[in-house]
Amino acid sequence: MVSYSDLGLVNTKELFKKALSGGYAIPAYNFNNMEQLQAIIMACVETRSPVILQVSSGARKYANQTILRNMARGAVEYAHELGCDIPIVLHLDHGDSFEICKECIETGFSSVMIDGSHLPYEENVALTKKVCEYAHSQKDYVTVEGELGVLAGIEDDVSSEHSHFTEPEEVVDFVNKTKVDSLAISIGTSHGRAKFKPEQCTKDANGILIPPPLRFDILEEIEKKIPGFPIVLHGASSVPIEYVQIIEKFGGKLTDSVGIPEEQLRRAAKSAVCKINIDSDARLAMTALIRKVFTEKPDEFDPRKYLGPARDELKKLYAHKNQNVLGSAGRV
Ligand code: G3H
Ligand code: 13P
Ligand code: ZN
Repeated sequence: MVSYSDLGLVNTKELFKKALSGGYAIPAYNFNNMEQLQAIIMACVETRSPVILQVSSGARKYANQTILRNMARGAVEYAHELGCDIPIVLHLDHGDSFEICKECIETGFSSVMIDGSHLPYEENVALTKKVCEYAHSQKDYVTVEGELGVLAGIEDDVSSEHSHFTEPEEVVDFVNKTKVDSLAISIGTSHGRAKFKPEQCTKDANGILIPPPLRFDILEEIEKKIPGFPIVLHGASSVPIEYVQIIEKFGGKLTDSVGIPEEQLRRAAKSAVCKINIDSDARLAMTALIRKVFTEKPDEFDPRKYLGPARDELKKLYAHKNQNVLGSAGRV
């Protein structure tokens, strides 16, 4: 049994309390490799932002969970070395069973998500409650994120054809019965780089797809039902057109890419939304820079020469999110 406090990590409790009262959101960035983690820590230290490091099931398979855990421990020491002990959470993203949550809790995670959103309501309640009972009874309280409503979009292990917005009528019952610490909701965001079908969008003068707005009316209804309760937004990448264009210029093909406009996320961050999940934008930034180096320097074969520029771009991206989108900069 490894407890997260021994690794220097924290749970989300205090962070969400401060984010709610301060009108900002904590960044939740997925990581799978060293360059992403370095960029996250460098950016968060530089901008004085707390951070949630997210590990998906796919990441655990790809990178090995022992390595990931020790990377998170390394991240704590690295932040210290860079001169600022920012609060760092290690969070399981989209846990889909009690067993995976338990395993993560027992091996150093300070926070887990149990995603029962695809289950019938009562089954989602029962599973989420079971995870909460286990997580909350640990010596070091592990925080739990649940989900109500289904996001559209396709990722390796996260897929759903259609989105079902969260029913505000269900949230009070769900929170009371399960005792979750935060709740992910569906108000129009979705996973991946193509968040809407072209027919759901309009086009601007340059032919760029403009997505329909998020359902702030549903968010406001939910806030009224559970005032002061931490809300989470998944699928919150903005899919910057600049990265899509660089990728396509250097041989990639990312048809019909469209994300959530940053001003809508800024608005959400000022509300009860206090955790915003971003993965796809980082994938785009890395891919853009790697493709650029590969095309411009065809004789380059030292991975540090293409992963290095990708890491620099990632750092810029994360710092921008903290400063201009989530409002988490300067909160440490
Ligand atoms: O929500 C999903 C995240 O983007 C993680 O994706 O399962 O491909 O690691 P992944
Ligand atoms: P994006 O695909 O929009 O980056 O969302 C990531 C996410 O929700 C991780 O859980
Ligand atoms: Zn997600």
